Amino acid sequence: MKVLLLNGSPRGEGSNTLRLSRAFIKGLGADVQLREVVVRNEKINPCTGCFSCWHKTPGVCIWKDDMPAILEEYIAADLVIWSFPLYYFSMPSGIKALMDRLLPLNLPGIHRREDGGNSHPARYDLSQKKMVLISTCGFAARENNFEALKAQFDILYGRDDGYTSFFMPEGELMRVPELQERAQEYLGHMEQAGREYRTGGVAPATRAALNELLIPEERFLEGANR
Ligand SMILES: Cc1cc2nc3c(=O)[nH]c(=O)nc-3n(C[C@H](O)[C@H](O)[C@H](O)COP(=O)(O)O)c2cc1C
Repeated sequence: MKVLLLNGSPRGEGSNTLRLSRAFIKGLGADVQLREVVVRNEKINPCTGCFSCWHKTPGVCIWKDDMPAILEEYIAADLVIWSFPLYYFSMPSGIKALMDRLLPLNLPGIHRREDGGNSHPARYDLSQKKMVLISTCGFAARENNFEALKAQFDILYGRDDGYTSFFMPEGELMRVPELQERAQEYLGHMEQAGREYRTGGVAPATRAALNELLIPEERFLEGANR
């Protein structure tokens, strides 16, 4: 199984989110062929909106940077894991630049979607590709926090079973030395989620464990404000 990990944390290897993603990948099994993109180390110019990749040079961007190689990995992957922290209720700019540069994967036509609205058809058959979204955030609350990101991925990859998401509040607690035992417990659930994902789907009990906060919100707020 070819897995492409898109690590969009500006912290690179020091990312809280990456710890969750690595645990999930461990759970996927030993046969995973992992290709890892650390977005902050890659040269990914912003899309200029010139549409050359649609009209002048179909499928090929004007920029000669690191993105064409990433696109090849993206096309080849069985599973793409989007791993990044929540920034302003959405994604950090580096990974957004990468997402915008996926434009050559689409064709310029505009179709009606079965679930409403419009979309551009795919240039390649990527229908078998699986998507996972893993994101941590700083607040203790999911509500009024992760909704915009979830809505974006729902539209992009499909509301029902188009992708699998893991949203973890209190992400900064992952690096608190006194909480490492609890952090390890949480990472154990992420690893279990990886195992279950590979064999049909994340079990409700694992979901429930992952939906538990690392520490209760009241204690979190008290500590954060101290
Ligand atoms: C510019 C910026 C914007 C952020 N926006 C949010 C936000 O909207 N909601 C939230 O709960 N946390 C927010 N955070 C906190 C991060 O999501 C949190 O620290 C996360 O765990 C960092 O993960 P990482 O180590 O993988 O980069 C923000 C942090 C930064 C630096």
